[in-house]
Amino acid sequence: MNQVLKSKDLLGIKELSAPEIKFILDTAFGFKDVLKRDIKKVPTLRGRTVINLFYEPSTRTRTSFELAAKRMSTDVVNFSVSTSSVVKGESIIDTALTVQALGADIIVIRHSSSGVPHLLSHHLRASVINAGDGTNEHPTQALLDAFTIVEKKGGVKGLRIAIVGDISHSRVAKSNIYCLKKLGAEVSLIGPPTLVPKEMEALGVKVFYGMDEGMKDVDVIMMLRIQRERQGKGFFPSTEEYFRKWGLTSERLSLAKDDAIVMHPGPMNRGIEIASEVADGPKSVILDQVTNGLAVRMAVLYLLSGAS
Ligand code: CP
Repeated sequence: MNQVLKSKDLLGIKELSAPEIKFILDTAFGFKDVLKRDIKKVPTLRGRTVINLFYEPSTRTRTSFELAAKRMSTDVVNFSVSTSSVVKGESIIDTALTVQALGADIIVIRHSSSGVPHLLSHHLRASVINAGDGTNEHPTQALLDAFTIVEKKGGVKGLRIAIVGDISHSRVAKSNIYCLKKLGAEVSLIGPPTLVPKEMEALGVKVFYGMDEGMKDVDVIMMLRIQRERQGKGFFPSTEEYFRKWGLTSERLSLAKDDAIVMHPGPMNRGIEIASEVADGPKSVILDQVTNGLAVRMAVLYLLSGAS
């Protein structure tokens, strides 16, 4: 382990200090330079083994962890839950102990239940990275979002950042609230009362139920996916109604600062939380977020591997 990060694991942003977050971001900027070279592969983690253990679907997170590991010459295995002994009833702890016995130094875990990475961290000597647990946290998403804001805006401190949508079910929102507050941003949450609990103000954020009020003069708009797989029925009347009230359109975007940027963790529901003209427009940094995820995940693997 290095001198700055105190844990062998990355379980959540809640557990990190502001200096730890800044250290990860600084390290990631170094890796972004590596990724601009003609030859993007470095021998930094040769001989190490990373196992991606994804119990939920993923495009961005799993692919970028795999590529990040490969760029650093790590042996990386994408464990396929649907063709594994999990379907015969093997527990998550036995599964993780098994891949550790096969030589895993780092286990990247995504699971539908909150707290699974924390549980594994108690049973494993391997490092555990939370790639999204239930509605709890998605720490590397928040780190790549902060990285993108620093890259586009020069820093996070003092910025007005609005997070819009399904806050209740969003692990991305939770990790971003912790991260952006620790880095000194002024954070507000916007969405329907059924999806934005007023109690979240206890985290030091403002809550707005109307887009026009909440969007005024913000520097960053972070849209969230409507998580239909985690919702029951009745949080809003229909997707059309949701878009009418909380969807990000060009007209609504004009309420933000002229140089505001638009973010979305993906995957997007176009026409429900965001209009295509905004998602593909000049203020969108959505694909930059994806690109930056690679440098950030290289930094996290490197710092937790003990190589630094
Ligand atoms: N943002 C995010 O976690 O995307 P994936 O589900 O595609 O990994």
